[in-house]
Amino acid sequence: MQIVRNSEELARARASLTGQLALVPTMGALHAGHMALVSEARKRADKVAASIFVNPAQFGEGEDFGCYPRRENEDARMLEEAGCDLLWMPTVRDVYPEGFATKVSVTGVSERWEGEARPGHFDGVATVVAKLLLSVRPHVALFGEKDFQQLAVIRRLVADLNIGARIVGVPTVREPDGLALSSRNAYLSTEERQEALALPRALEAARDAIRGGTPVFEALHNARALLRDGGFSRIDYLALVDAATLEPLDRPEGEMRLIAAAVIGTTRLIDNLSA
Ligand code: PAJ
Repeated sequence: MQIVRNSEELARARASLTGQLALVPTMGALHAGHMALVSEARKRADKVAASIFVNPAQFGEGEDFGCYPRRENEDARMLEEAGCDLLWMPTVRDVYPEGFATKVSVTGVSERWEGEARPGHFDGVATVVAKLLLSVRPHVALFGEKDFQQLAVIRRLVADLNIGARIVGVPTVREPDGLALSSRNAYLSTEERQEALALPRALEAARDAIRGGTPVFEALHNARALLRDGGFSRIDYLALVDAATLEPLDRPEGEMRLIAAAVIGTTRLIDNLSA
């Protein structure tokens, strides 16, 4: 596996990769969720590239940019073992050199939910993902359904700017007890880790209730109560949405997703399920 850091090294390494190329963009602290993207990438292309970049532009003030877990050596070893061909680990200066002044902003699908709770977050994501895709020029790029709204924002971005990479969504990888894998799970205490299970359970309860004919409003109300009773101190949202537009639904219709974000202790978790 070639490891490159700056744009010159990247351009050289990119030119040496023949055939179809897949890209897996990450912020590192890799876990089995990220590795599922890598194994799906290997099925869909001849060569696989990954990037690790903790993107300051997508963190708000008071968020965890400073303490976001960084584990470069271990990440590189995992990617190498998984058969990754190229790892790009740029510095902040490589991605945002002196004078950088461009912002990519996707309207509509990015505005509610995470967009509302974390102002500026999706501008940071869209800008860096545009830059990663235009720098690596992969044929395919893989993103997790774990960040369901992010995936929708990226699909919009790539379609609108004719970026020319096929975007593939990969189902969420979970712990055996149901908690979605996330680099932020490392922030949870033992007790919080147990309480965090209320998040997937509340989503499952809402899904089952809606499938069973319970009115959407009531199913969501009960699921929020499950979260609060389970130990979550703040619920940013728990909603039934259209899977493509992310617009809220007050009755079942078409392709749907249940999405939620809530805080336990000082850790904010997100999750979603097909409804
Ligand atoms: P990061 O949180 O490191 O996630 C990298 C990719 O892994 C994302 O596409 C995310 O959806 C996926 N992922 C995370 N947990 C997963 C799980 N449990 N199952 C399946 N996939 C999972 O998302 C980002 O980084 C950044 O916003 C990025 C797209 C790299 C732009 O900076």
